[in-house]
Amino acid sequence: MLTSNARSGPRWTVFLALLCALCCLLAPAVAVKHENFKKCDQSGFCKRNRQFADTAASSSSWASPYNLDPASITFKDGTLSGVVLKSLMGSEEKIRLPLTVTFLESGVARVTLDEERRQKGDITLRHDSTARKERYNGAGAWALVGGLDVAKGAALSEKAEEGFTKVFYGEGGKHQAIIRHAPFEIDFQRDGETHVKFNQKGLLNIDHWRQKVEKPQEEVKEGEEEKKEGEKKEEPKGEDESTWWEENFGGNTDTKPRGPESVAMDITFPGYEHVFGIPEHATRLSLKTTRGGDGNYNEPYRLYNSDVFEYELDSPMTLYGSIPFMQAHRKGSTVGVFWLNAAETWVDVTKHKSIPNPLSLGILGHTDTQTHWISESGILDVFVFLGPTPQDLTRQYGELTGYTAMPQSFAIAYHQCRWNYVSDEDVKDVDRRFDKFNIPYDVIWLDIEYTDEKKYFTWDPLTFVNPTTMQQQLDQTDRKLVAIIDPHIKNTDNYHVIDELKKKDLAVKNKEGGQYDGWCWPGSSMWVDCFNPAAITWWKELFKYDSFKGTAPNTFIWNDMNEPSVFNGPETTMPKDNLHYGNWEHRDVHNLYGLTFHNATHQALLERKKGEIRRPFALTRAFYSGSQRIGAMWTGDNLAEWSHLEASIPMVLNQGISGFPFAGADVGGFFGNPGKELLTRWYQAGIYYPFFRGHAHIDTRRREPYLAGSPYTEIITQALRLRYQLLPAWYTAFHEAATTGAPIVRPNFYVHPNDERGFAVDDQLYIGSYGLLAKPVTKEGQDSVDIYIADDQPYFDYFDYTVYKGAGHHTVAAPLEKIPLLMQGGHIIPRRDRPRRSSGLMKYDPFTLVVVLDKDGNAQGTLYLDDGETFEYQNGAYIYRRFSFDGKRNSLTSTNLGERATVKTDKYLKAMDKVRVEKIIVVNAPKAWKTKKEVVVMEEGKKESARKKTAELEFFEGEKGKADWAVVRNPKVGIGRGWRIDFD
Ligand code: NOJ
Repeated sequence: MLTSNARSGPRWTVFLALLCALCCLLAPAVAVKHENFKKCDQSGFCKRNRQFADTAASSSSWASPYNLDPASITFKDGTLSGVVLKSLMGSEEKIRLPLTVTFLESGVARVTLDEERRQKGDITLRHDSTARKERYNGAGAWALVGGLDVAKGAALSEKAEEGFTKVFYGEGGKHQAIIRHAPFEIDFQRDGETHVKFNQKGLLNIDHWRQKVEKPQEEVKEGEEEKKEGEKKEEPKGEDESTWWEENFGGNTDTKPRGPESVAMDITFPGYEHVFGIPEHATRLSLKTTRGGDGNYNEPYRLYNSDVFEYELDSPMTLYGSIPFMQAHRKGSTVGVFWLNAAETWVDVTKHKSIPNPLSLGILGHTDTQTHWISESGILDVFVFLGPTPQDLTRQYGELTGYTAMPQSFAIAYHQCRWNYVSDEDVKDVDRRFDKFNIPYDVIWLDIEYTDEKKYFTWDPLTFVNPTTMQQQLDQTDRKLVAIIDPHIKNTDNYHVIDELKKKDLAVKNKEGGQYDGWCWPGSSMWVDCFNPAAITWWKELFKYDSFKGTAPNTFIWNDMNEPSVFNGPETTMPKDNLHYGNWEHRDVHNLYGLTFHNATHQALLERKKGEIRRPFALTRAFYSGSQRIGAMWTGDNLAEWSHLEASIPMVLNQGISGFPFAGADVGGFFGNPGKELLTRWYQAGIYYPFFRGHAHIDTRRREPYLAGSPYTEIITQALRLRYQLLPAWYTAFHEAATTGAPIVRPNFYVHPNDERGFAVDDQLYIGSYGLLAKPVTKEGQDSVDIYIADDQPYFDYFDYTVYKGAGHHTVAAPLEKIPLLMQGGHIIPRRDRPRRSSGLMKYDPFTLVVVLDKDGNAQGTLYLDDGETFEYQNGAYIYRRFSFDGKRNSLTSTNLGERATVKTDKYLKAMDKVRVEKIIVVNAPKAWKTKKEVVVMEEGKKESARKKTAELEFFEGEKGKADWAVVRNPKVGIGRGWRIDFD
């Protein structure tokens, strides 16, 4: 079977594809190759730290060997500094670990622990290596963009208590860090209650730098090799040094010139039963525990960006990207930590229930979640968030790592991809067929086969003969093209890109300092090292229109394989002892590599032509904290199976609460051929992914929506139309993400943080702040879903206004043609109802407002609009409105939410001035409107005579179980203007 790990030569691909398609038919379903990826006990530092945890747990007299030297403590300008001393077993020597605890204006605290560099000559490196001799401390330079202002108000507590240092910080000093000296621990309190504890279990462990002591090889006498197990010499007790200086896995040897240097610590969330976050894993939203037990995992969650072929579900195995941000949630409180480290990281999660005390009546037991974070190298650098709301967490994390970039509007519409559209004529044909079947789409994608023998920045001369006319055709309907560009550069003759890469010395290096050569799609390849500023400068040149000939302003980019995926490398990636710019080992920066490459592409798209300023679009597979500033991500190579459809919902939700909400999964499933029901249901679910793209493996049969046949094609088309109809709401949700860090699709706990029953609900989602509650069908043959409602507001079926009332589960019919979608009372939803071929063609279409009244007869909603293309919105060229329906006054108003006066001269705003609201639908309309025939409309900025007018109102009585509703036809109010409509 042709796998994503296959080595495909240029023309071989087609042959292999045919062969493999045949294999596919014959072969049983293949599962992930566990043997290709490490388990914790195959990863030296993980194993050692887990053993350390076991030793600590098994000894009642365990004391952490880390003490803060009280004499070293200073406090200045919101930062506490000191030195933590690590005691060594059987030695007087103490390792000095400089500590900083910085209190930020935002109420977040940051703790760093480094290792003091000893005098030159203290450490002898094992062999000549160009690797750096200090710990890597550069992740922040890539991940952090703000939020680091130090709190002026943070202050040491005046009440000194022996053995402790206390600092008040946060708004009104309601946060407190209680730093215990011996052993070194920190409790983070909010309003006098501890929410986060560092090192409570004593698992802080910094593998300090040491000199390698060459041990004499034990002589094995002839005939003794066969000694029976029991007779074998006992391993000397003490630290397990077997993987300190070298480690082998899968036939690869990781030389470790710097020896062991892991950083680890336990972090406890007392009283918190749920923890979320730390993507990317194919797992539930509420993270399971990892040290065994019924239904739980035995392995820690691993964060080591990897190309995992045919990944398995319900697993803590690593995937393509890493965000080491975790939040703990309970009724009334959300707190969290961000473990800023770019090296391989493992996280154990355990939960401990305290038994209720029978003597203290009414005191219930509670659950503590304990986590154990283990990274291979670098410094300890942790941010602590004390909430108290989920919104505080996403906002504060976003302040640090940046918010989602405001995308071009096409990027949130539908993307059509496959590996591969085989020629420019093929692309044009697919484009025409979408139109023939009246199916909207915005973007068509080209996978690796468009290139000339996998040489990026070239076109296959036989199949993509005329990329320019291809793009011209797409442009006629305002559609776009996305072309793939991967980080591996084919190492071959007569290819200007590799020549330049080599000549300019911009590739990642091997451990000897030579340019590293590995194997990927093109065969022998080198990897651009975008940690190097010179590499970014060079990369930008490659995307200029006159360099990447055949591309146009409507060409955008897909960055794949940037974990980086290396077919012949350890765990399908780069050797850890490879070297990057600045002589950092790959081990130190592995999880950042994808971001640096994606960033270079983003920069390049900003500068393709002087004076052309468009928002870039670049999709990435690998990511780290901060990648959200650059583009979108998708969940990689899923399978065309119902279980993968189901798993995609919690995965996308988790991306959202972890600060990278522009996320989606391959619609239809990448590997394999989905049945028509599955494909249809996947589209119905995919319309709720913020990033919405159909994609398929090269071996699969074609599955563009128009091929499904009746009634599937029509049903899929309806689903796509629903996405397009709601694009104004989606765009506003993106704007919210871009300005507040709020997820675009939201899990129940985020919207209803006090509803304990719903904390683990992860199979339904809310779109933005619109109260639109969707529950995709993810099971074969299912014709209804049980939607969980958390509150006492009425919810209404999106299509027929059936009313669902009361907290709990409600069964909603979901025959194949129906997408379960409810509207929570209290919202105003902006839509565009005119079906078009692409979102670009809807740019100046009129609006429909759906006013969904709550139990008190009120509703609110916002709408954000801009040109969807340039950065002019940063100069005020946007429309931002609040719509409110006041049930007491019976009037609907539109008011300005924009901070600045809108720029009247802007081309877009001028054109938008003519765009009207064409319809207002009021769901749950008061019965009193039954006899009403018209409403009074008043608009600002009009001549007095024209200001006051009337519009027709029609009232509809809902059948049994359905809400009454009313329609105002053509009120002719401007979408960007202030107005009031009186219904009384
Ligand atoms: C792996 C990606 O995950 C997949 O989407 C793509 O089609 C193949 N690489 C080929 O580029």
